Amino acid sequence: MSGPREPTGPELERMSRGALVDLGHELDSVRIVAQEPPRRPGDVRGERRARRRVTLLLVLSLLCAAAFAWAYLFWPTGYVPPGAPGHTANLLYTPLLGVTFFGAVGALGAAMILYVRSFYPDEVAVQHLEKGPSAERDRFTAGATLAEAGEHTGFGRRTMIRRLGLTGLGAVGILGGLVAIGGLVRNPWRQRGDAPLWTTGWKPVGDEPVFLRIATGDPKDITKVRPEDLEPDGMITVVPFRESERDDPEKVHDAEMAPDNPVMLVRLPPGTPVANPPGREDLHHGDYYAFSKICTHLGCPASLYDSQQQIFLCPCHQSEFKITEGARPIFGPAARRLPQLPITVDADGFLVARGDFPDPVGPSFWEIRRGQH
Ligand code: FES
Repeated sequence: MSGPREPTGPELERMSRGALVDLGHELDSVRIVAQEPPRRPGDVRGERRARRRVTLLLVLSLLCAAAFAWAYLFWPTGYVPPGAPGHTANLLYTPLLGVTFFGAVGALGAAMILYVRSFYPDEVAVQHLEKGPSAERDRFTAGATLAEAGEHTGFGRRTMIRRLGLTGLGAVGILGGLVAIGGLVRNPWRQRGDAPLWTTGWKPVGDEPVFLRIATGDPKDITKVRPEDLEPDGMITVVPFRESERDDPEKVHDAEMAPDNPVMLVRLPPGTPVANPPGREDLHHGDYYAFSKICTHLGCPASLYDSQQQIFLCPCHQSEFKITEGARPIFGPAARRLPQLPITVDADGFLVARGDFPDPVGPSFWEIRRGQH
């Protein structure tokens, strides 16, 4: 089957845009089987309305992009315990990012669709697609086709829409880069010792005692722990509880769900030889030891308890922590001890925390040594 004659380079350069478009159709085996203008000739009001809608969508996209960037960089993201000022704002962070990012991308996409529907002729084209790389002639014809489309839709003339559209595209591109570098802009050490990476829900607020409550999953089931609740060799998971939150199921629930709050309370059999490391000599209460449940490798719950060997095992990558040696990692990829919660018993015989964990909970991070106290 013989195709159209291959034009030479100089011939291509001499051809008019319209001739190049026709040649492109012919070379691409494209047939335009129907074509209609987007609206009646002279429908100025319709065109103005369409222009206004596209402009509004583009402005909305830019506003959302700016809001995303602002929220990503400046919204307070530090952990705020339930009930403390700023807790709700903290909860809103992720939804805010989702809404603004969706708004930026969604409005830009809607503007592009509306623009094409409003200004580009309705046409039905049938094409027989060929396989293989593009030839030089295809580049010329494709360029001419795009330029022709731009002229038909008036994209070149409509300065505001063109500029807003290109700026919107650029803004969405920048958002992707912002996500990559944003984490380097924030300073986790800004709040010093109160920074969220160094504090948990066990941190005392005023003089109110923080009790060890059994984690039951039911915010109405409040069982504070006494030493006699645990048999020798026993282990339970506990979470912080304050009497001021007793009638607030949401706060009780939040204290149980906060990822860095769960603690494993262990009662060693009497007479068990223990080698507490320096700095941890007085964090326990008799035979009772309380360790963070969050693995210092990648943050899984390290809550498999082997009472025979007195170790905690993390099921994710098999790190093992020797309880009688201050939860020292003795196997697996974890490189830090599990943080230990200082505990004692109050005048009514309930176990209470004597303060927050002295060490940061969970996986290590770049600035971890700055916060050790
Ligand atoms: S998260 Fe615990 S060993 Fe990896």
